[in-house]
Amino acid sequence: MTENTYVGAVDQGTTGTRFMVFDHGGQVVANAYEKHEQIYPEPGWVEHDPREIWENTKDVITQALAEAGISADQLEAIGVTNQRETTLLWDADSGRPIHNAIVWQDRRTTDRVEQLQEEGKADDVQAKTGLEPDAYFSATKAEWLLDNADPIKTERARPADVRERAEEGEILFGTIDSWVIYNLTGNHITDVTNASRTMLFDIHEMEWDDELLEEFDVPREMLPEVRPSSDEDLYGHTDADGFLDAEVPVAGALGDQQAALFGQTCFDAGDAKNTYGTGSFFLMNTGNEAVESDHGLLTTVGFQRSGEPVQYALEGAIFITGAAIEWLEDMELIDDAAETAELARSVDSTDGVYFVPAFTGLGAPHWDQRARGTILGMTRGTRKEHLVRATLESIAYQTRDVAEAMEADSGIDMQTLRVDGGAVKNNFLCQLQSDIIDTEIARPQVDETTALGSAYAAGLAVGYWETADELRDNWQIDREFEPDQSADYEDKYERWSEAVDRSLDWARD
Ligand code: G3P
Repeated sequence: MTENTYVGAVDQGTTGTRFMVFDHGGQVVANAYEKHEQIYPEPGWVEHDPREIWENTKDVITQALAEAGISADQLEAIGVTNQRETTLLWDADSGRPIHNAIVWQDRRTTDRVEQLQEEGKADDVQAKTGLEPDAYFSATKAEWLLDNADPIKTERARPADVRERAEEGEILFGTIDSWVIYNLTGNHITDVTNASRTMLFDIHEMEWDDELLEEFDVPREMLPEVRPSSDEDLYGHTDADGFLDAEVPVAGALGDQQAALFGQTCFDAGDAKNTYGTGSFFLMNTGNEAVESDHGLLTTVGFQRSGEPVQYALEGAIFITGAAIEWLEDMELIDDAAETAELARSVDSTDGVYFVPAFTGLGAPHWDQRARGTILGMTRGTRKEHLVRATLESIAYQTRDVAEAMEADSGIDMQTLRVDGGAVKNNFLCQLQSDIIDTEIARPQVDETTALGSAYAAGLAVGYWETADELRDNWQIDREFEPDQSADYEDKYERWSEAVDRSLDWARD
């Protein structure tokens, strides 16, 4: 059954869209990627054009299949994984978005979150959703869109405001998974992991919460149906008359960080992974228990398979890591991320330079919406090599901040951290990470674990894979990094913490 058949995964990330095809051994047989435009209408605002995202999704699917000589009929299922929290509204009738998507990094609703905190509502929100109230999550973005999206721009708009149309079910809300699934199948669905990032979903009751919907004035009629991440009932099929000319089941979806947890086969309590993308997201499976954090971590849904209980996770969400390297590129200090290892290695230290890349505030464990990027300790002798090294160190220090919180919350002394994402190709960074958190780092052979995780979820749903053990057997190590006992980062880590303190609360009104 599995010969010459495969499972596909759409990975719709912050900077681009990827389609990958995997075989039964979890190996990559096709891969295509396209970037999309980052739109910055005002300082601190970040938007994406959902139409561009869908066009790119179709392109990468057709391109990957064509390049590998695979027909859509050979796909047993498609899984979806996505940048989380990013929010959009679209017209149910025409399928057209009514505004650009507001990206997870967007800070336009900072004041609204502060109002929530001032009104003493933050603890209640956290108790239900597991989330530290922040502009990062979807709720305030949806509220902003309902208040501000221009009804004139809506397709065939009746002269009624957006919220009124939403109450009639004429305008739909979704995170990016819903947008992709809707376009692939015509059905309005999200999965439990993505729902858990909206700040509208009770992760204990596993349902949309009436009080939160009222707080943010989000009509229930516009919300997607919430389904397991791996769903034997299927989310739907692609259209035989559509761009794929085939009816392929769409059967799994997870937010990208939960997908990486799944792709790293972190199926048991205590298993942990860190993904180095635009930001870094450190997740530890906590089993069927939603562990509340006392140290600034998020409690979130890890995944759910059809008919099985939900698995929860603790998460350290770090907003800017890979994006700090992109910023070095934008500043023309480097041509390409691949150069950073050599440049950093060419100097013994940062020469006292610390860089806190708090471009969009700080997430876990600090949660300061008004923190901003800060470089400290520069002298006339500071060279770009020092700044490049300080950037890589900032990635590793931020990870240590959340690793310490994770151990304190879970009581688990982590033995090995599984890593993935674009930046882990950088051996210097992996070694640095191991030295700075004093823990073994394990890099798998397939480092595109995000796409792999959603393929696994979809493939399990349709019986392409039958058990979690088959997937565990597919996980193969590429390289392990052991802490170098002669590297002493303790004093430097203290200085780093001081630098973080100085970046806090910078962007006051
Ligand atoms: O929560 C945001 C996260 O899902 C974005 O991930 O990989 O697109 O930077 P990435």
